[in-house]
Amino acid sequence: MTIRQVATTPFDDQKPGTSGLRKKVSAFQQPRYVENFVQSIFDCIENRQGATLVVGGDGRYFNREVIQTTLKMAAANGFARIIVGRGGLFSTPAASCIIRKRKAIGGVVLSASHNPGGPQGDFGIKFNVSHGGPAPESVTDAIYARTKVIDRYRIVDAPDLDLDRLGEVKLGDATIEVVDPVADYVALMETLIDFERIAALFASGFRMRFDAMSAVTGPYAKAILEECLGAPAGTVMNGKPLPDFGGHHPDPNPVHAADLISLMNGPDAPDFGAASDGDGDRNMIVAPGLFVTPSDSLAILTAQAHLAPGYRSGLAGVARSMPTSRAVDRVAERLGIACYETPTGWKYFANLLDEGLITLCGEESAGTGSNHVREKDGVWAVLLWLNILAVTGKRADAIVREHWATFGRDYYARHDYEEVDAAAAQGLTASLRERLSTLPGQSYAGLTVEACDDFAYTDPVDGSVTSSQGIRILFREDARAVFRLSGTGTVGATLRVYLERFEKDPGRHGAATADVLAPVAAAANAIADIEAHTGRASPSIIT
Ligand code: G1P
Ligand code: ZN
Repeated sequence: MTIRQVATTPFDDQKPGTSGLRKKVSAFQQPRYVENFVQSIFDCIENRQGATLVVGGDGRYFNREVIQTTLKMAAANGFARIIVGRGGLFSTPAASCIIRKRKAIGGVVLSASHNPGGPQGDFGIKFNVSHGGPAPESVTDAIYARTKVIDRYRIVDAPDLDLDRLGEVKLGDATIEVVDPVADYVALMETLIDFERIAALFASGFRMRFDAMSAVTGPYAKAILEECLGAPAGTVMNGKPLPDFGGHHPDPNPVHAADLISLMNGPDAPDFGAASDGDGDRNMIVAPGLFVTPSDSLAILTAQAHLAPGYRSGLAGVARSMPTSRAVDRVAERLGIACYETPTGWKYFANLLDEGLITLCGEESAGTGSNHVREKDGVWAVLLWLNILAVTGKRADAIVREHWATFGRDYYARHDYEEVDAAAAQGLTASLRERLSTLPGQSYAGLTVEACDDFAYTDPVDGSVTSSQGIRILFREDARAVFRLSGTGTVGATLRVYLERFEKDPGRHGAATADVLAPVAAAANAIADIEAHTGRASPSIIT
């Protein structure tokens, strides 16, 4: 088998964002585009000679082609062992799990998360480091620098590998190991979650629906819920991973998982509903007749985690991304544990997890996780909820309402303005930043600004400072508005406006979120002049 050195020239648009390199499929289909980026990753892995690498993706369109290229390039770049999931599949948390378990030097994870797939959809390549989480900025910066000067890549000349057969094959000097992408992940879950109690719950007639959204978690959810835990067949809906996710946005929120939401609001609602995204790191939780916001879910899991074997001895601390509601802060205070507020993006949790400063963490964007891996984990969150339901014997909606009665309720919504002109979006945030010092004391739509800032974060572990992470406006009326631009979009800019309002009084916990937040939304519009800047009178999507 021969190793070829192929001459190439750089592309100027291969800057990885917080979630790796994300582009339209058509960008990745340009000749040499994938090869350049993958070689740039490999060039930045010191000590790769003889090391183990994990490769897998969420099964979206173009996954198999890029897997084949990556395996042939990895074999030509000195890795001794390359572990790939059967069919080229690994959910993002399962990839993180196996990188850690097999002491790999890192992993190449192919996904564009919750973004649509198919020939017109999105694709992505992300590099995770040896702790199992996304590469830190120092590494992604080095990869980007490399993409700008790359002049050759290495690949073995070999026919495509059979990715559907488990076992080992030689490719050049490397060993390719095709593994069951589900097995190690299930084994890890069994150490954290009380499978027996959940099995007893299902045996007692408890019914749930898990919407895998035709994405990667189908095989995971079927293996765990239906095979291990005895949930009836059909518990998992849209359980077969499809290259185009059936034409849907595999994003578990009330808009894109509307079928599940209407089932949960209907007369024959099962006891519990859940969904996960394209690559399996996000989750949505729905109680009968009640959508649980991800921010509330994080707070509830924090309050109840001790009911699961993996968290029996309590939590070291918790963390939430800045735009996530402050519900978890109140729980942490009650438990007497630290609560960290980090910039948006999972990578900011890595140091806190590695240092043992936190056990659970989460984001408002449907991400929840713990120290078991270094990615958020959708199926894990669903299992922890089931564990809590099984041990308490309470209905999911009762758990939520009791939580609010104890801690108060944080009404919460996110307004996204998608595909806005990038310059206009930058103009909006720049103008807000300039006016920040003039806002305190001013009133808008009946709310008075108490304080505001442009969020900056100092990592407590390595002291690194990350600035300009979003504008926070606190109102005297226990409300907050946050403005930031998405770092993961592939077209134009996405402005995210996060709105929340705290209500202590249980007598007022039954209101409609939109009603409670209407004044906060009006104040946010008035402060930022959203329509004047973007030309949009209303958001593209509210979640
Ligand atoms: C979005 C979410 C963020 C999440 C990221 C990756 O990023 O808001 O919480 O970590 O996707 O899943 P954004 O597009 O807002 O930059
Ligand atoms: Zn995802």
